[in-house]
Formats: sequence, C-alpha cells, structure tokens
Amino acid sequence: AEPDLQAAFDATIDRHDRIEPRDWMPDAYRKTLVRQIAQHAHSEIIGMQPEGNWIGRAPSLRRKAILLAKVQDEAGHGLYLYSACETLGVSRAELTELLLSGRQKYSSIFNYPTLSYADVGTIGWLVDGAAICNQVPLCRTSYGPYGRAMIRICKEESFHQRQGYELLMTMMRGTDEQRAMVQESVNRFWWPVLMMFGPPDAQSPNSAQSMAWGIKRNSNDELRQKFVDMTVPQAEALGVTLPDPGLRWNEERGHYDFGEPDWQEFAAVIRGDGPCNAQRLAHRRAAHEEGAWVREAATAFAAREAALRDS
Ligand code: ACO
Repeated sequence: AEPDLQAAFDATIDRHDRIEPRDWMPDAYRKTLVRQIAQHAHSEIIGMQPEGNWIGRAPSLRRKAILLAKVQDEAGHGLYLYSACETLGVSRAELTELLLSGRQKYSSIFNYPTLSYADVGTIGWLVDGAAICNQVPLCRTSYGPYGRAMIRICKEESFHQRQGYELLMTMMRGTDEQRAMVQESVNRFWWPVLMMFGPPDAQSPNSAQSMAWGIKRNSNDELRQKFVDMTVPQAEALGVTLPDPGLRWNEERGHYDFGEPDWQEFAAVIRGDGPCNAQRLAHRRAAHEEGAWVREAATAFAAREAALRDS
C-alpha cells in the first residue's frame, strides 16, 4: 500500500492541506519536522535566559511585571512546541536530553549577552520582530499541530514586539545617556538578528526539501529581506541608526539593499563557540538537575492517583 500512501501524502501537500499526526508521512518528513520543531522549542526555553537576567534588576515595578509576564510567555511557547513535537512520536524527555547533550540546536541569537536594560527593548523589537516575520508564514505550515501552535505564539509575539518598541520609545524620550544606551544595544543586536533567518539560500541545505513539503513557506533570504524592509521605517520613527553603511532603498527592486552578515561568526555560534553558548547550556543543565525532584514527585503522585483509581 506504500505507493498509495505516498500519493495521498503528496496530494495533501499539493492541496496546501494539513498532515495530521495519525496520517502516513515519509520518515524524512517526520525527521525534518522533529528537528525544526524541537529546535524551535529549545529556542523558546533557552531564550528565557538573556531576558531573565534582568528581572531582578528591572528599573520599576511596572517594567518588572511586564518582563516577568513576557519571559513566562516564552516558557509557554516552549511547552506548546514540545507538545506539537510529541505528536510525531518523540517524548519531551528525549528532546531535552538532545538539547542538553548538544545534539540539537537552538537559535543562534540567544548566545549573545544582554548588557543593559535597553537590550530588553531591543530583544522585543528586533528579536521578536524577526521571530514574527519567520513564524507568521509557519501558521500555514503543512503539519497541523505545528501550524496551530504557531497561531497563538504569533499573537503573543506581536505583543512582545510592541512592548519592546514601547520600552525603547520611552528611553528615546529620556536623557542623552538613555538614547546612547538604545543605540549601543541596537548596534550589538542588528547583525546577529539578521542571522536568525539562517544561512543564505544558496548555503541552506534543508530549504529546498522543506519548501517542497510545505514545512517552510518562504526561503531564509526572502524572510530576511522582508524583515529589513519592515524594520527600517520603525528605526527611523524611533530615531536610531541601523549599523549598516550599505543600507539603502533600491527603487528598482522595491526593497532595501543591505550588507552581508558575518557568516563566519554565525558558523562559530551554531558550532557552540558563541559568546554565551557554554553559559546557556550550563544554566539549562543545572535547572534540569535541580528540577529532578519535582519530576520524580509528580511521577510518584500520578502513579499513586492511578493506583487509587484502579483499586
Ligand atoms: N540558529 C541556529 N541554527 C540555525 C539558525 C539559527 N539562526 N539558522 C539555521 N540554523 C541551522 C539549521 O538548523 C541547520 O542545521 P541542522 O540541519 O543541524 O538543523 C543549518 O543551520 C542549516 O540551515 P537551513 O538549512 O537553512 O535550516 P532550516 O531549513 O531548518 O532553516 C530556520 C532554519 C529558518 C531557523 C528554520 O528552522 C525555522 O524557520 N525554524 C522555526 C523558527 C525558529 O526556530 N525560531 C526560533 C528562534 S525565534 C524565537 O524563538 C524568539
């Protein structure tokens, strides 16, 4: 029956319809989805660290409440994504193990440090802005549970993006020192943010197949361009300069031209040699070990409840 199953799968993809957990799917499709969704889930969880770094030092109770809520949302995103991934037949415990042993990746961007409170604003504006750009098309991804998780995540991400922009707007209306903090933060984050979209299309080994399967709906370079086009007017409204001398409107293309990120730096970061890779993984490992008693207690409790129900 294999050829029929493959034909049914292909027809679903061609109709831009959804593949659901109980449907037959090629092994390589399943494998690619596990890789991408797990990497996405790990990014949400590791992504709590750079901002979490500032919760205890927020400049006001209001900013602290906002930041706490935001970091909590990221934990929630990680959980929906791990759940979506589990529908493909892997467990969250396995995925966690793959992250902790360095066999699965998470987004390069979270290997950069957060050095000032302006970074909280920049992460909201640029990092979450890039995440939205990449994730809105994923609401139409071919795998049902992933696409549905993306809908809620994107709504929350747009809220995060606005809170970051509002924070930076507030700082830009402040003192010269505050404006300088914003500019310095944007200078540090701009290039790493452009790297979030992945390598250039010509060097992206997974893109062609993932697009043919409708897992990805746009290429890395298309989304990077879309992000730049969307962000330049926002930078102007904010009054910051994007640190790229090559950035200019191209009338003919109807897009902004922009410079090339340092792809060697990108390669080093995804290899594990970025500024904070070791720290991020060490922190995650320690949190996992310190949480072992909670998992054991929850498992023992569930077993006891089940035994009581059955008796
Ligand atoms: N950080 C770390 N690794 C990356 C990044 C990045 N920014 N971009 C690409 N890579 C990795 C890929 O995972 C792949 O490695 P692998 O085969 O070992 O998994 C390799 O670089 C080559 O890249 P591509 O062939 O282009 O990989 P892919 O088709 O998966 O495209 C992309 C990468 C665009 C990140 C895609 O996986 C995607 O859209 N993922 C979902 C979004 C996501 O993960 N967002 C997380 C960050 S945003 C946030 O959470 C706030």
